[in-house]
Amino acid sequence: MSETMEFKKLVGMNAGDDRTSYANNSGLQRVVVSKTRFILDETLKDMIENEEYFLAERCFKMVDLGCASGPNTLLVVSHIMQTFQDLRARFQEIWIFLNDLPGNDFNSLFKWVQSRYDEKVIERSGCCIYGLPGSFYHRLFPNKTLHFAYSSYSVHWLSQVPEGLGKQNKENIFMATTSPREVFEAYGKQYQRDFSKFLSLRGEEMVSGGRMVLSFVGRTVEDPSSIDDNAYFTILAQTLHEMVVEGIIKKDDLYSFNVPMYTPCQREVEAIIMNEGSFELWKKDVFRVRWDAHRNSTHDPSFFDEKQSANLVANCVRAVTEPMLASHFGSCINCDVVFERYAKKLAAEHLLKQQKSSYYTMVISLRRNN
Ligand SMILES: C[S@@+](CC[C@H](N)C(=O)[O-])C[C@H]1O[C@@H](n2cnc3c(N)ncnc32)[C@H](O)[C@@H]1O
Repeated sequence: MSETMEFKKLVGMNAGDDRTSYANNSGLQRVVVSKTRFILDETLKDMIENEEYFLAERCFKMVDLGCASGPNTLLVVSHIMQTFQDLRARFQEIWIFLNDLPGNDFNSLFKWVQSRYDEKVIERSGCCIYGLPGSFYHRLFPNKTLHFAYSSYSVHWLSQVPEGLGKQNKENIFMATTSPREVFEAYGKQYQRDFSKFLSLRGEEMVSGGRMVLSFVGRTVEDPSSIDDNAYFTILAQTLHEMVVEGIIKKDDLYSFNVPMYTPCQREVEAIIMNEGSFELWKKDVFRVRWDAHRNSTHDPSFFDEKQSANLVANCVRAVTEPMLASHFGSCINCDVVFERYAKKLAAEHLLKQQKSSYYTMVISLRRNN
């Protein structure tokens, strides 16, 4: 199997609900969901007040693209249902599709759905929740059927590692300030292709006036070599490189490992939306989320314990990258060791640098052109 094929298959989060699972280590993404709620609410309100299908349709259809398996998608679903109630928007039926790659842990996800029904957090009557396995870079719905699409922290994942990278990114595992120009170009081209395709597919699936709210990790500057906006990956690359020096990991394996993710700058996103043409950009915002933003909900905010924060950050990065690392490096890699080392590095040098240790997050609200 080629390198590209493997990655296509293995982007995915840690399954289940154990210590290292995404479900138990997605507090950071929960903070992101809460910070984007105002754009979501404004979009829903505007949709209810101004789109004709809201009066005409008996069944409202929406999707969470890249829902993963964990509590966040259900927080979003129950929030949207509550907003509809508050705004007195009534449909006979609401169909909610939870989409992710086929390898996602849909079994755990639908146990959560069941418990939310049982606890009456989600009202069962009139609301049907379906699993929708498949890539959002392929068609997921019939023509002109979808009214609303939501996606949080998912569309920065590419459909594959950019083609032709080979080993030229050396000990870097993502776009780093020391990456060669060809690496930036390959990543940029892949994103351009993927995000245009994503918009064009959703454009076919959505009714005119359909809405889409997307949040994703971006970068602050046009030139990715000028600032390291993705230090979380740089530190992971340094951790892996140390293991190469110690003979634990093969140099060739590190040199051929690249993460299939892209953090666009604002101009790129806006240019792709405009050139692709299916959607108009209705609202946008950017904000920073500290890597350990979720520590405040469980720990005393006036007290900063860098070790505790470093562990939270390491667990979060592990939940998102472990399937990729395990598949690429195979049995020579012990992720307990990798992320212990990673956490130590974070605690020692990085977490106190406020600007560097945050995810630069973009949120956009799009309207399907008539
Ligand atoms: C960081 S998780 C975010 C999950 C959830 N939205 C949240 O906020 O907690 C990103 C999710 O996107 C999914 N994903 C990545 N590429 C995808 C694709 N092409 N199609 C569908 N889902 C994808 C991953 O499998 C993963 O579950």
